Amino acid sequence: MATRKILKIGDELLRKMSKPVTKFDEGLWELLDDMRETMYKNDGAGLAAVQVGVLKRAIVMDINNMYLELINPEILEQSGEQIGREGCLSVGGIQEFVKRPKKVTVRAQDRYGYQITITGEDFLARCICHETDHLNGILFVDKIEKDYKEE
Ligand code: NI
Repeated sequence: MATRKILKIGDELLRKMSKPVTKFDEGLWELLDDMRETMYKNDGAGLAAVQVGVLKRAIVMDINNMYLELINPEILEQSGEQIGREGCLSVGGIQEFVKRPKKVTVRAQDRYGYQITITGEDFLARCICHETDHLNGILFVDKIEKDYKEE
């Protein structure tokens, strides 16, 4: 395992569409293990492969000490809304208000290619949306609620 360099906003790669993972082999596992280490080393809650320069549809997350890997994630359902502060290891320094669904159901594959379905609320829903956005070249700064004031 190794930590990898995190690309920062302004890097063109962060704006590209990531490609579906088709091989669930040692190359993928090494990437995921490195992403996990890189996320923990930088105190992140989530990391997408593109953030370490790999255009593959793979994300890792750690929500309340639950580690998750989602390969080829696809949001099937979403409901409600929440507005909360969000940051990103590729942006750094700032946390801004972003509107997200309150609850999402995502279908994905695990590192072996088995299909999994996860329903998450609150912070988990927020992270799933944030990381899935990365795979489509979208950053949270594109979605800041500029006029929102905390109550
Ligand atoms: Ni991010």
